[in-house]
Amino acid sequence: MAGLFITLEGMDGAGKSTHIPTMLNLLAASGREVVATREPGGTPLGEQLRELLLHQEMHVETESLLMFAARAEHLQQLILPALARGAIVVSDRFTDASYAYQCGARGLPLAKMQALESWVQGDLQPDLTLLFDVPVEVSLQRLAGARTPDKFEAQGAEFFARLRAQYLARAAEFPQRFRVIDANRSLEQVKKSVEEIILSL
Ligand code: TYD
Repeated sequence: MAGLFITLEGMDGAGKSTHIPTMLNLLAASGREVVATREPGGTPLGEQLRELLLHQEMHVETESLLMFAARAEHLQQLILPALARGAIVVSDRFTDASYAYQCGARGLPLAKMQALESWVQGDLQPDLTLLFDVPVEVSLQRLAGARTPDKFEAQGAEFFARLRAQYLARAAEFPQRFRVIDANRSLEQVKKSVEEIILSL
């Protein structure tokens, strides 16, 4: 059986992490192997790079290259073998986050990102991407009450506005794989939307 690659995206504070357990339980009920992972990270080397990426200031080109170094390791060590076994892989963030954060918010030219993407991924794209979308103010409010922010979470409204615009542009460009979830609703309502999408697979 062919594997299935699902990615979860959204601005910091959109609440995607809250819904991951529900999603994994529903998928596991299908009897298929489910592999849950995240980016940056997902491998021992990737988790070390994550520490640097989330806390160390660096040029946006360095940041993009390190994101894709972590992603290459993640694909080769974990994602591709799991898909080849027929597993369902659920990754908390993937390349759409690079487009949103490094291109949209930080200004890396799209052509440079496309070059990295095609080098590291070839033709591989997620089968399904859930985008948890909230207005910028909501995201900032939710983050304000949270734990110590990492360097991305510590950015201001303009950064978040560029980030959201790029995520929504990606969703509009690839409507066949994106599902945009209005995450500015009660947890119950968002959970219901997530369940509907997963059950329709
Ligand atoms: P996040 O997924 O929000 O984890 P947590 O819920 O533990 O805070 O943190 C990952 C951060 O990395 C997030 O701010 C987005 C950023 N990021 C990029 O800038 N580019 C990328 O390609 C990826 C995968 C993540």
